[in-house]
Amino acid sequence: MTVLSNDNPEAYVKIPKIKFTKLFINGEFVDSVSGKTFETVDPRTEEVIARIAEGDKEDIDLAVKAARDAFDHGPWPRMPGCERRRLMLKFADLINENVEELAALDTVDGGKLYSLGKIRDIPSSAEIIRYYAGAADKIHGATLKMSRDLQAYTLHEPVGVVGHIIPWNFPSQMFVMKVGPALAAGCTMVVKPAEQTPLSALYYAHLAKLAGIPDGVLNVITGYGSTAGAAISSHMDIDKVSFTGSTEVGRLVMQAAAASNLKPVSLELGGKSPFIIFDDVDVDKVADLALQGSFYNKGEICVAGSRVFVQEGIYDKFLIKLAEKVKSWVVGDPFNPEVHQGPQVDKQQYDKILSYIEHGKKGGATLLSGGKPGGEKGYYIEPTIFTDVTDDMIIAKEEIFGPVMSVMKFKTVEEVIKRANATKYGLAAGIMTNDLNTANTVSRSIRAGVIWINCYFAFDRDLPYGGYKMSGFERDFGLEALNKYLQVKSVATPIHNSPWL
Ligand code: NAI
Ligand code: MG
Repeated sequence: MTVLSNDNPEAYVKIPKIKFTKLFINGEFVDSVSGKTFETVDPRTEEVIARIAEGDKEDIDLAVKAARDAFDHGPWPRMPGCERRRLMLKFADLINENVEELAALDTVDGGKLYSLGKIRDIPSSAEIIRYYAGAADKIHGATLKMSRDLQAYTLHEPVGVVGHIIPWNFPSQMFVMKVGPALAAGCTMVVKPAEQTPLSALYYAHLAKLAGIPDGVLNVITGYGSTAGAAISSHMDIDKVSFTGSTEVGRLVMQAAAASNLKPVSLELGGKSPFIIFDDVDVDKVADLALQGSFYNKGEICVAGSRVFVQEGIYDKFLIKLAEKVKSWVVGDPFNPEVHQGPQVDKQQYDKILSYIEHGKKGGATLLSGGKPGGEKGYYIEPTIFTDVTDDMIIAKEEIFGPVMSVMKFKTVEEVIKRANATKYGLAAGIMTNDLNTANTVSRSIRAGVIWINCYFAFDRDLPYGGYKMSGFERDFGLEALNKYLQVKSVATPIHNSPWL
């Protein structure tokens, strides 16, 4: 790989001034009750970008009160769906008008590639809002054919005040993926972005206000997980929590919900997804896809295809290709359009990934490439490929959430199905083969929520997304996600106006 150092990002883009650093409650940017702030750091330079208001329990209480009032008395849940659609479309247009600034915020805050932010993350965020805007006036119940002398129908009503707790790896897409369907459903909400990447969430709050989304409908509280985040999951007046993040914290969220008001939760958690390559593929093409599968977004993606199973007939050839291709993978400043991989999100994640790499080395795996930090300043790590990995090694079992690939050899379809499923996770799987029978058999046998055949990261707002097993439950994206934010009311009445018991 190439590691570019001492890059000058100002050569590629004008980094915007940070405009929003306060909590967004009831349509206003306000300081936290305690007056405390925290630093958000640029992972390229390890320098502080801005000080952000540090929300805690009292701030969550204020935000929930605003959201509750907006739900119980405000126009949002009561307005016709087509009116919600109109305001959401305006919101989406404003996102498009600010693509470069939003992309730059996610790059300085999270080390994400600016070039991709501009053409993918931010435009697709606007499209996700549009997708759900289009659903806002098509939320229907059913007319039921009852077994007795009754007529009945169901109403799909908004679930109420939603708490969204989101992670740092896709700050923009996570925000709209949660907020979009909840807005369409007529819910009001409090969003807590990750403490590593608070900047774009506050900007989205500003745009939502400009679009005319009423005050109190969308509140954003920046702050830490164990304080502001925990105050959401245990709040008595939040009706639903939608969480994306680690499996450990997902468990805490569920416990807190159970111990408070029994609010339903949806969890989208970690993964350790298999990327399975059969003998009959075009090795050159699949090697490119495998690199993307492990190193896209610096490996900080819950569906990373980091367990690469290669059938024995092409194993050696595949490794040669991989070694050749990884040489042209460029690590460097994420504002540079030539770069494939920017810095990891923060020091903690950087240290965690490097310690997994040490486990790989000591555990007996063979290093095919990388294995070291990339550069002196910033949280850069070389794209790292281990071969001769066995299923019991830590690097093959635990989610690393960094640019680390483990390559393993297999012989038969039955064997690879068994090994691919031998994990507590079940988020995604990639199956590379031209044999339809193999593709069908394996896709139906893998216990995971998303299967990609001859592609990887084929995300779409219309494709439901979520996990089996300890990768969580319920679905983001697609019309399935609307159901997370709706509840069903059944209404029955006698047909002939006769008293009926
Ligand atoms: P995390 O699970 O701690 O953070 C996710 C969100 O949960 C953040 O907004 C955080 O502030 C909040 N949070 C933390 N503690 C909380 C609590 N007690 N109650 C309520 N909310 C809380 O993830 P973290 O520590 O940033 O990353 C650790 C590992 O988690 C990563 O290395 C990766 O393996 C995994 N992860 C998975 C993600 C996914 O997309 N499924 C996203 C981020 C991390
Ligand atoms: Mg940051």
